[in-house]
Formats: sequence, structure tokens, C-alpha cells
Amino acid sequence: MKKLSVKSNRSYDILIERGILSSCGELIKAVARGNKAMIISDSNVYPIYGGTVASSLESAGFAVCSHVFPAGEASKQLSSIAKMYDSLAENGFSRKDIIVALGGGVTGDMAGFAAATYQRGIDFIQIPTSLLAQVDSSVGAKTGVDIKQGKNLVGAFWQPSAVLIDPNTLKTLTPEFFSDGMAEVIKYGCIKSASLFERLEKENAADIIDEIILECVSIKKDVVERDEHESGERMLLNFGHTLGHSIEKAYGYTGITHGQAVGIGMVMMTSAAQNAGITEKGCAKRIADVLKKYSLPTCDKTPLKLITDGALGDKKASGDSINIVLLNKIGDSFTKRLKKSELYDFCSKGEII
Ligand SMILES: NC(=O)c1ccc[n+]([C@@H]2O[C@H](COP(=O)([O-])OP(=O)(O)OC[C@H]3O[C@@H](n4cnc5c(N)ncnc54)[C@H](O)[C@@H]3O)[C@@H](O)[C@H]2O)c1
Ligand SMILES: [Zn+2]
Repeated sequence: MKKLSVKSNRSYDILIERGILSSCGELIKAVARGNKAMIISDSNVYPIYGGTVASSLESAGFAVCSHVFPAGEASKQLSSIAKMYDSLAENGFSRKDIIVALGGGVTGDMAGFAAATYQRGIDFIQIPTSLLAQVDSSVGAKTGVDIKQGKNLVGAFWQPSAVLIDPNTLKTLTPEFFSDGMAEVIKYGCIKSASLFERLEKENAADIIDEIILECVSIKKDVVERDEHESGERMLLNFGHTLGHSIEKAYGYTGITHGQAVGIGMVMMTSAAQNAGITEKGCAKRIADVLKKYSLPTCDKTPLKLITDGALGDKKASGDSINIVLLNKIGDSFTKRLKKSELYDFCSKGEII
């Protein structure tokens, strides 16, 4: 079993092991304060893994109940959280009891937000089952929901009591969602690890996925430890996201996935920065090639002006300037502050790759 400890105002361990799902009860018992556990999961994941998790929790002495919501981003809204509060209250959950988030990023974000707010905060465990959730969303304590004005606009920072990662669960993930998670993996290589990036180029990620998960989680852990509330280094994790989020928005969040949009955003920014003499030549092509290798697109038909205007309206763009994340070279990233009025001109230096 691989173990990483995240130091924060509420520290927690991340445990990675194939088959950890069937021994999760004892591990959760070790950090829980009460004896009730509620599994929160979605309608795809619960039928596959809910039984294993429930029986392990029961064997460890928990009284177990479950709350299952319809799978998909469309569920990530306040009305779903209200239903979770109802389930928790109807089952007599107190502050000492624990929520077990079993699923992808939607489940983790929502169960985490319910945990952060029910009775002003109860404990929760992350058991991420999608690649995106295993390498990204389950670590870092961001929880929340979407509202009609935008994604993730309501939320809280709330640390889990533990994160339990079972790479075996990826076997049932659809290839599209595997690729989606790969965009974030490629992002980690770009911003922090040239050696990870080279492995993605040379090897088949699926064959070395346990090592990849460990490396990505280590990178995210280090970054969030140094910058828990996103005032500095954590911004590097937004590489590809400034334009990516805007592309997703332009599509109305249907017809393009988050990973696809982020991949396109990484290529656009890097190509522009290369032509501006900032990023080492050849990087944009390398990123595009590795995206293609993992079945992700590298360009999009959305007009650039629409993409940059959308990016300027993002919640992360404040005042008259915007922070963008650029590479010096693969594995070496930094943030640059641009005047909002300069973003379009800067990005228009990029080429389609
Ligand atoms: N909190 C953060 O720091 C953070 C970071 C990145 C993304 N996010 C959020 O994460 C969400 C996206 O995460 P996601 O892509 O995991 O979405 P998701 O939770 O909707 O999962 C994707 C799909 O895969 C299915 N699934 C998950 N695991 C499975 C498995 N093992 N077998 C079969 N099917 C499985 C789900 O039912 C769903 O249909 C977005 O809402 C995004 O905003 C949060
Ligand atoms: Zn992302």
C-alpha cells in the first residue's frame, strides 16, 4: 500500500492500493469518531461497488446506509445536496458520524459539500473511482456544486478524513472518461514533471496507471500543502483551464468534456507562448501529440474571441488583469499576469496544431 500524508489545518492520509475497496471498513474505522456511515454514490457506481464498500463497513462495525443520486454533472446542484441533508437527518446522523463519497468528481464534490455544511460540518471519506477523481478532485479539499450562472460557484474548502484510491475501479470506467482523466495527467506532466510527460509519450499509460496515480497525487499534494486556498502556486493546476473552461461554457457543457477542453486550452496557450518567445520551441507539438495518443482533441472550431471573452468573465479573472499559466518548457510552469485587454492578442499568436 502506498501512503501519502497531506498536511493542512486538518491533515489526512491518501492510501493507494488495488483492492482497497474491500478493506475500506477497517481503514475508515481508524479515523471515524462515530459508528454510522452513509455511502453517497451515483447511479452508475453504486450498483458496481456499493455492495463491497457497504459490507466492508458493516464488518468493521458501522451501521451503514446509502444515498444514491442520478449519475452526471446535471445532478451537481443544490437540490441534490438538499436531498442528501434529508437522508442524513432522517437516518439520525450526528456530527460524529461519517459520509463515504464513492464515485467520480461529481460525487466527491457533492458529498464533500454536504459534509462541510450538514450540522456545520461532519467527517467524510473520499473513495474516488474515476481517473479524474483519483488524480485530481479527491485531493485538495475543494467541494461544491454548480449553479445556473456557472460551474462550481458555490462550495467550501473541507478536508476529507482520508482518501482511499483503488486503481482496480478504473477497469469499469468508459474509455471516454479514462481519456478525460488523462488530460489532467498530461497537465501534471506539463506543469511539474518532465519525466512523467516523457513516460506518457513513450509508454502506454494504462499499463503504468498505478505509478501515474501516485505521481499525480504527490504533485497535487505538494502544491495544495504549499497553497491551501489558491493564492499562489495552486494556480499552476489551472494550466489549460483558463481557455478550457471557456470552451466548455461555449458548448453549454454538452458535446465536449472537461478533459477535451483542457487539452485544447493547453495547446492553444503553449502555442501562443512559444510564438511569443516564452515557451521552448516544440512544446506545443509534443503536448498535441500526447493528447492525440490518448484520444483527446487538440483544437476546436469555437472562435478565439468567444473563448477569450468567456475566459475574462470567469470567476478567477478579477479586476483589470488575469493570471494565465504558461510553460518555460515541459515540466516547468509559472503564472503570468496579463491585462485583460491583452489576452486576445496574446492568444492569437497561437497556431492550430
Ligand atoms: N474538487 C476539485 O478539486 C475538482 C477538480 C477537478 C474536477 N472537479 C469536478 O469533478 C467533476 C468531474 O469528475 P468526473 O469526471 O469523475 O465526473 P463524474 O463523477 O460524473 O464521473 C464520470 C462518469 O463516470 C462514471 N464512473 C465513475 N467511476 C466509475 C467507475 N469506476 N466505473 C464506471 N463508471 C464510473 C460516473 O458515474 C459518471 O458517469 C466535475 O464536476 C468537476 O467540476 C473537482
Ligand atoms: Zn480540470
